[in-house]
Amino acid sequence: MTGTGEQPMAAVDFADIQGLVRFGHGNLAGAEFLLLAIRDPSAARQWLAAAPVTTAEWQDRPPARALQVALSAEGLEELGLEADILAQFEQPFLAGMAGEESRSRRLGDTGPNDPHRWLWGRPVPHVLVMLYAAPDGLADFREEILDDKFNQAFEVIRTLPTSTRLGREPFGFADGISQPKIDWEGTFPTELHSRLHYANMLAPGELVLGLGNEYGEVTPRPLIDPAVPGASELPRAADDTGRGDLGLNGTYLVLRQLEQDVRGFWQYLDGAAAGVPERRDALATAMVGRGVDGRPLIAEEQDIPGGRRGNSFTYDGDIDGHSCPIGAHIRRANPRTGDHPPGVSGFWSWLLSTLGFRRRADKLPGRHDLVASTRFHRLVRRGREFGPALTPEEALQPAGGPEADKERGIYFICLCANIVRQFEFVQNAWIASPNFDGLTGEADPLLGNREPTGAGEATDGFSIQGTVGVPERLGGLPAFVTVRGGAYFFMPGIRALRFIASRQN
Ligand code: HEM
Repeated sequence: MTGTGEQPMAAVDFADIQGLVRFGHGNLAGAEFLLLAIRDPSAARQWLAAAPVTTAEWQDRPPARALQVALSAEGLEELGLEADILAQFEQPFLAGMAGEESRSRRLGDTGPNDPHRWLWGRPVPHVLVMLYAAPDGLADFREEILDDKFNQAFEVIRTLPTSTRLGREPFGFADGISQPKIDWEGTFPTELHSRLHYANMLAPGELVLGLGNEYGEVTPRPLIDPAVPGASELPRAADDTGRGDLGLNGTYLVLRQLEQDVRGFWQYLDGAAAGVPERRDALATAMVGRGVDGRPLIAEEQDIPGGRRGNSFTYDGDIDGHSCPIGAHIRRANPRTGDHPPGVSGFWSWLLSTLGFRRRADKLPGRHDLVASTRFHRLVRRGREFGPALTPEEALQPAGGPEADKERGIYFICLCANIVRQFEFVQNAWIASPNFDGLTGEADPLLGNREPTGAGEATDGFSIQGTVGVPERLGGLPAFVTVRGGAYFFMPGIRALRFIASRQN
């Protein structure tokens, strides 16, 4: 592969990349995630050395079962990874999702989301094992994987079973529609400030460590001195050929258990809509930015590189949020901006904006924050749902049904090469922050914890700019989503996994 950036890039070796990085295993509706503590490090290393981990290389059809493995910083330490190697991983991974109060605050993990209340995540699980199979084949697969050797090596501290309902999240909306298209061939330009317009293409190094990223560089990751035992088994680093690349073909995996109050969501909306069904559905659609069937509020499709039907649009023609509210979940999570603010046209305006002399606020009084170029903040989502389904109609029944009070939600999973710049930025600056693109007093309508900020600013509003007159504003939104657990993991490439399994302590 030839890179378009400054740094040389390694060829993409799918046989060394775990399958989940490339595919969501959408053909395998059964899935179960196991959170493990290491019982016996030596037995754990033996198991990891031989584990039949599924790779991203397929022959002609997708695998009928898949096993993926990821490790936390605590897990790597327990396995005996040398301290100076471990220290080269990214700081949030080392500190852990729940490891610092300031991080919890930034992620919105306060109040009911406080890690002290989580079901798991403190202490951090050592290993995450992910099993995928056809629903009727999952039990057999589990039995096969959890053999005597496995049980000697690990204790299962929590099993996260998923529901088999793919393509709909628990509130009832179509999910899994928008994903970045990974430019595995490296043909799309990554020069800074060159992408005037949003594109759905993403450099592979935004997902896979050791490959070229959107800055035309290779994201820092642990590189190993050739004198370290086992280093010769690792691939060479493309930007430092003397050293072995422990990060290459690996990715960070963010896992958060997000419980959804489906009854609370639909009943709040019903109240706000004074019981008028069309109005209720319109409010729900405004909160997501797409209808329950997945249709986006921006109807006009554009020719977007890497785009596909139902996902080829930007908000450039809707700066004031008349079609899609500025604070809608999908608009916050991916504002679809290019390298300069939308609404700027003409060479001189472009040049001034690009050089940083002109602000979007020039055009939009009161909107003093630029929404950062989205290509540096994309996430590849691989989440699955848990709990029994509850339709909006059932959720609206006052008594609820027998399933009404069961726990349900999403195991939110995203993969990225840089936790701070990608997951934490999106979660903090776009989802949890009450200061997003000129809005105040509100956070993400689906995900906000509704707690006032440290400075006392409210976050429980939601404004719908609409087409005519004064924007409509909902207030006093309850929290619809509660964080119940979470952790950061590293999902290594296959050779890196075998290197880790060859450590000693
Ligand atoms: C219970 C929690 C959540 C629910 C119910 C939810 C729901 C949805 C829905 C219905 C969509 C539109 C369908 C699609 O494009 O796939 C979507 C898109 C998206 N969500 Fe979420 N989401 C949740 C949590 C999160 C979190 C925690 C993040 C990131 C930190 C996130 C980031 C995104 C992104 C990046 C998109 C695609 C936006 C786009 O490219 O247009 N979501 N979500």
